[in-house]
Amino acid sequence: METSTNALGPVDYDTAQHAGYARGRALSAAAIQHYMQVFADRLPSRRPLVGVDLGAGVGRFTPALAETFGGPVYGVEPSGRMRAVAEAEATHPRVRYLAGEGARMPLPDAQADFLLMFLSFHHFPDQRAAVTEIARVVKPGGRVLLRSTFKERVPNHWWRAYFPRSQAVEEAMFPSVAEARALFEAGGFTTVELVEQEIPFEGDLAEAVARLKLRAVSVFEHMTEAELQEGFEALDAALAAGTLEPRPTTGDVLVFSRASGAFG
Ligand SMILES: C[S@@+](CC[C@H](N)C(=O)[O-])C[C@H]1O[C@@H](n2cnc3c(N)ncnc32)[C@H](O)[C@@H]1O
Repeated sequence: METSTNALGPVDYDTAQHAGYARGRALSAAAIQHYMQVFADRLPSRRPLVGVDLGAGVGRFTPALAETFGGPVYGVEPSGRMRAVAEAEATHPRVRYLAGEGARMPLPDAQADFLLMFLSFHHFPDQRAAVTEIARVVKPGGRVLLRSTFKERVPNHWWRAYFPRSQAVEEAMFPSVAEARALFEAGGFTTVELVEQEIPFEGDLAEAVARLKLRAVSVFEHMTEAELQEGFEALDAALAAGTLEPRPTTGDVLVFSRASGAFG
């Protein structure tokens, strides 16, 4: 069984999360394209670029990365079941999914022009070892795109008020910007930019509630069944009363550059 850990303990992607993840966390084509533009603005304009999607999950972004940047793109994912969904449902001729994890990627040295971690880094049990491994796999001058929440910048999600303890749980789950920078800078990277984005609320509220009930949000794994039930009941009541409000959220991407010449 593959698990991952953070300060609050592991989130199990092999027995629970893989089942609802693709539907629960589905993104529109427009949202995927928005991210591709954010990444393209921070990567060299030449094509093709070789990419790694580390903690690729069910491959939400991996085919779009290959399409946008030319590839090949390697989706490295430790959970066999998440990978199986990706291999069945997120195929692309220039994408390969590989069994591996942050601290152990089955890739040669200096392979990647860019490496994306999209809401995966906070799960890594040994982040220092992962940064060393990332420095090995990324080419000198290559870029790391760390899409993460940071503890002092936890987003005010549209559902936040219904799960009040989720804020504190997220603060415990994620590093601060300074902590993430310190880790990467000690590992031979320079910080390029913190990209702060506003993410519009997409689609229908009832659909959003139904998707949230699939619990494909790792913060829920650290809350009690009673807290979740109470929150979902209150959400249903607000939806029925028409008092539930859609609200944009925020999402950060910390961009690093692999120093030329570091690590030989
Ligand atoms: C929240 S999901 C994000 C998946 C994908 N990046 C996305 O945005 O759809 C987190 C993923 O990180 C993976 N993960 C957990 N521990 C990991 C590790 N040590 N190295 C790489 N990936 C890991 C999990 O298996 C899971 O698929």
